[in-house]
Amino acid sequence: MALDLFSPIKVGSIALKNRIVMAPLTRNRAGEGNVPREMNVTYYEQRASAGLIITEATPISAMAHGYPATPGIHTEAQVAGWRKVVDAVHAKGGKIVLQLWHVGRISHPSLLPDNALPVAPSAIKPAGQAFTYQGLQDFVTPRALAAEEIPGVVAEYVQATRNALAAGFDGVEIHAANGYLLDQFLRDSTNKRTDIYGGDKVNRARLLLEVTQNVVAVAGADKVGVRISPLNPFNDISDSNPQDLFNHVARVLSPFGLAYLHVVEGGMGGSDLPPFDFVELRKNFSGPYIANLAYDKARANAAIAAGNVDLVAFGVPFIANPDLVERFARDAALNQADQSSFYGGTEKGYIDYPTLQG
Ligand SMILES: Cc1cc2nc3c(=O)[nH]c(=O)nc-3n(C[C@H](O)[C@H](O)[C@H](O)COP(=O)(O)O)c2cc1C
Repeated sequence: MALDLFSPIKVGSIALKNRIVMAPLTRNRAGEGNVPREMNVTYYEQRASAGLIITEATPISAMAHGYPATPGIHTEAQVAGWRKVVDAVHAKGGKIVLQLWHVGRISHPSLLPDNALPVAPSAIKPAGQAFTYQGLQDFVTPRALAAEEIPGVVAEYVQATRNALAAGFDGVEIHAANGYLLDQFLRDSTNKRTDIYGGDKVNRARLLLEVTQNVVAVAGADKVGVRISPLNPFNDISDSNPQDLFNHVARVLSPFGLAYLHVVEGGMGGSDLPPFDFVELRKNFSGPYIANLAYDKARANAAIAAGNVDLVAFGVPFIANPDLVERFARDAALNQADQSSFYGGTEKGYIDYPTLQG
């Protein structure tokens, strides 16, 4: 029988009841102190029928924040808050990993300790504006990290991983996608360094490799996934040769025996994208492959049956359909998502989408 979204699978040490993954989704609804609160527990619990939940991007340190009301994983209160989320998902038979996030230059002094400048591979200001507690404000020119500071950043990923494991997560996903810090090092529009962390693809992939090595050392490779977005221009980023760069990234990550590689297969926000062969990318990685971006049930099943992908992550469909798995199983219609309540706000547009059961 052909494999499909409903075929169980093991990714690393994590046994999944299906291949329907909830994509990481920032919702800006954490409580005081960037601590997960009751409505966040309800939101994830409602979606526990997913084979795997990947949490919203979660700042690993005070300097890693770039948006209001995002839940961190660097204080005791945050760990305790996440523990409630994890326990609720586990009680419903779900699996959940935490997405480790450092935004790099996609931040603003008003969001950082002592109004610090955001940090980045190079002092290049992103086009656009930051979401702050005072509304939209122009991005600032970030400060380039000194080479001597890099071990400290890696240590933040390690401590955040320890914290995630202490909260009971089934694993962690290293966020190397969507124009944030690790992606800023990978792609050459944002990395103009002349030390061992810049220049050719080997050097630009070095920080991701070091983070992965060190996170794997504390969690075990079978509890670690990595997310990349080779083409996504979101957050004013691009690369002059994405196929070559990301084939290399997949190749160097492959020997770790990671739980999975998670790939955003295109761009969020329409613009002309260079050609890219995701099947070729996938051939460079020997472990499980999670595909994402604008999949529906039919396309997901076709991709899995063809052997091109192992699992599929759904983002917007999971915002609007807590029971997405059941709807797929029954070929039921999907709720449409209300974009105005994506980022921030109350329970409305967060935990009040109707299920088939009513
Ligand atoms: C409201 C919203 C928040 C998102 N937050 C994150 C995030 O925290 N981390 C991340 O890697 N991607 C994030 N994304 C991207 C999604 O994970 C996913 O790649 C995107 O929605 C495309 O998948 P889809 O077509 O199934 O929705 C977000 C997308 C949306 C719409």
